[in-house]
Amino acid sequence: MTPTPLIIDCDPGVDDAVALLTAFGTPTLDLLAITTVGGNVPVAKTARNARILRQIAGREDVPVFTGAERPLRRDPMGAGEFHGAEGLGDMAPFEPAVGCAPDGAVEAIIETVMARPEKTVSLAVLGPLTNLAQALRAEPGLAERLGPVAVMGGARSEGGNITASAEFNIWADPEAAAEVLASACDVVLFGLDVTHQVRATEGRIVALEALGTEPARAAASMMRFSQRVERETVGWEAPPIHDLCPVAWMIRPELFTLRPCHIAVETMSDLTRGHTAVEFRDGVAGPLRHRWADRVDADGVFALLAEAVR
Ligand code: RIB
Ligand code: CA
Repeated sequence: MTPTPLIIDCDPGVDDAVALLTAFGTPTLDLLAITTVGGNVPVAKTARNARILRQIAGREDVPVFTGAERPLRRDPMGAGEFHGAEGLGDMAPFEPAVGCAPDGAVEAIIETVMARPEKTVSLAVLGPLTNLAQALRAEPGLAERLGPVAVMGGARSEGGNITASAEFNIWADPEAAAEVLASACDVVLFGLDVTHQVRATEGRIVALEALGTEPARAAASMMRFSQRVERETVGWEAPPIHDLCPVAWMIRPELFTLRPCHIAVETMSDLTRGHTAVEFRDGVAGPLRHRWADRVDADGVFALLAEAVR
């Protein structure tokens, strides 16, 4: 089976870290680039963190690019309380041996996709959609050229996590999300409705720790941090590992149930900024051009993670 050419755009971030470690350890993914964006922590830290995880996974063959420092319009608002001030939970950061590639993330996305046959390069977006929105503005042919765009973002039945009605990635840069969803991109949206089904239970964390490899220890450390923080802040016993979902879908799409939908993003109201209006009925809000992840085999997702970090 030919490996899937994939770009991962992310803001590591503890759940981004678990997703990256899964991707780095999965040979059926052909990782062309890791692009980074300001989100959970500033982009200088998300870019460094992506390089740290790359070094832990022994994947310095994959270039890391630095992207947008701030959203298209909004002020940057981090989420350090859920990811730690440095963005990797309790892990003490270090300066990795290999630096970032010289190009910016937007150029990297455009050049990587436009240099390959149509619909052959997929993209997973695990943070605010600023880089992709800027790339679509700069290269009008990008949306048609891109393969599936799997995005962690949004919420429907679950309500929000950064506000009552919005999920963080969409809320952080609602204009970028609106532009991506209005483009010709083929978006598969993994919102809180499905990511809340993918939780780091004590048993799953213990199983990872038992593997004993450095990537497994790193992934377990991120989950332990989330376990403690989410117990203290929202009273959850098992934290959702949101960003694992788009990467798991790229590896084994059959683990997920998707529904055709129309998605609109609230950008005008302060109260409901970043809300995703996910409509399944044809002809009500517009054509059902995108897909919404509804259900997932969570055991199957964690099996991919365990296999990748073994
Ligand atoms: O709402 C969850 C999303 O926001 C995840 O991508 C997490 O990393 C944070 O960026
Ligand atoms: Ca993220």
